[in-house]
Amino acid sequence: MTIEASIAAADPLVRPEIAGLPDYNAGLALDRFRAIYGLDARAKLDSNENPLGPSPDAIAAIRTAAASVARYPDAANTALRAAIAAATGVEAEQVIIGNGSEDLIGAVFRTVLRPGDRVVTLCPSFGLHEFGALACGATVEKVPFGADWRFPLAALRTALARSARVLILSSPSNPAGPAIAADELRDLLAATPGDTLVIFDEAYLEYVAPEARVDALPLLAGAGRPWITLRTFSKAYGLAGLRVGYGISADPDLIRAVMKSRNPFGVNALAGTAALAAFADTAHLAKVTALARTERARVAASLAAKGYPVAPSQANFLFFDTGRAAVELAEDLRRRGVLIKAWQEEPFRNWARITMGTAVENDVFIDALPELDLSYADPRGSRCT
Ligand SMILES: Cc1ncc(COP(=O)(O)O)c(C=O)c1O
Repeated sequence: MTIEASIAAADPLVRPEIAGLPDYNAGLALDRFRAIYGLDARAKLDSNENPLGPSPDAIAAIRTAAASVARYPDAANTALRAAIAAATGVEAEQVIIGNGSEDLIGAVFRTVLRPGDRVVTLCPSFGLHEFGALACGATVEKVPFGADWRFPLAALRTALARSARVLILSSPSNPAGPAIAADELRDLLAATPGDTLVIFDEAYLEYVAPEARVDALPLLAGAGRPWITLRTFSKAYGLAGLRVGYGISADPDLIRAVMKSRNPFGVNALAGTAALAAFADTAHLAKVTALARTERARVAASLAAKGYPVAPSQANFLFFDTGRAAVELAEDLRRRGVLIKAWQEEPFRNWARITMGTAVENDVFIDALPELDLSYADPRGSRCT
C-alpha cells in the first residue's frame, strides 16, 4: 500500500502524520524468532547488540535494586547525570537521561519541531531520525552518502543553505558505519545556520578506533549554534533491554525543555542503577570494544573475499551490498539460524547490516553466506526518498 493509500484507509481519529509512517523495521527478539522459525538462533546479528553483555557489576546492581522497586525512581536521575557530567567535563544540568536514546530523539523533536519545519539528515540513516521528525509534521530532506561513504559535506551544505530547524546525523553512521573526521565536523558546523539545532547521535561512539576518534563536545560547543549529542547504554555497555540513553548540551535551558517532553519516570530504577555501574566498569567496556574492532576487520575481509562490497565501518556493524533484494538473503539466513538486518530504505534495499557478534557467531554467518554472483553490478543511482 502506498503512504497516500494508507493515510486514506486510516482511522479518522489518527493524525495523518502518524497514519503515514511505515511500521518500524525492528530486529526480531529471540523468543519470537524461535516461535516463527522453530529453531534456536545460532547468530543474532540484526540489532547491534553487544555479544558479551553488560558488566557483571551492572547485573549485581540490578539484583540489589530489585529490592526497592516499590518506590518510584529519582525522576531527576541525579546520580547518573552526575557521573556522566564528571566523566565528560560538563555540569549535571547539561545532561539528560532517557528511556533509551530513541526516547530522547523523540523528546528533542517534540520540543523544537513545528508542523512544516524542515529537518535535514543522511541517507541511509537510522529510521527514527526520519520517523520521529515526520511524526511531528516536519518535512525531512535526506542527503545521500556517495559511493565512497564519506560524509556528503557539499550536499549537506546545499541542503542547509535553506532554513532548517534541525540537522540530525549519527557518527559512526548507522547503518553504513563511517565516522565523521574533526575537520569534516568543523566544516559541517560552519555551514549550519545559527538557528538550526544540531542533533549529533553518537550511539556507537565507543567503538571508534582511537586514531579516528573525534571529541565532538568541544567542537559542538565552539561552533556557536544550538546542539545536543545523544549517547546510549544499549550498545557498548550491553544494556539494550533495560533502555537507557543520555544527551549532553551546552544549554541547560534546552535540557530542561527536553525533560518536559519525556516521561518523568521513563528511566526505571533498575535501568538507572545498572547504567551507573556499567559506566564505571571501563575494563569491561575495553574488552567489548576491542572484540568489535577485531571482528569488524576480520568479517569485512571475509565479505570482500566473497565478492561483497562493504562500507568502511567504525561501529560494531558492517553494511554490505547483498547483490539481490536483501530481504531474500535475510530470509535464507534466518532458515539457517542467522539473523541479519535487511535494509528497507530506497535505494539501499539490496544492502544489509550485520552486527559484530562473537567470533563463533560471525563464523556461523560467514559460513552460511554464499559467494556473491560475479555478474552483479550495483544498481544504485536512484535518489533517496
Ligand atoms: C544511531 C542510533 N541512535 C539511537 C539508537 C537508539 O538506541 P537506544 O534507544 O537503544 O538507546 C540506535 C539504535 O539502534 C541507533 O542506531
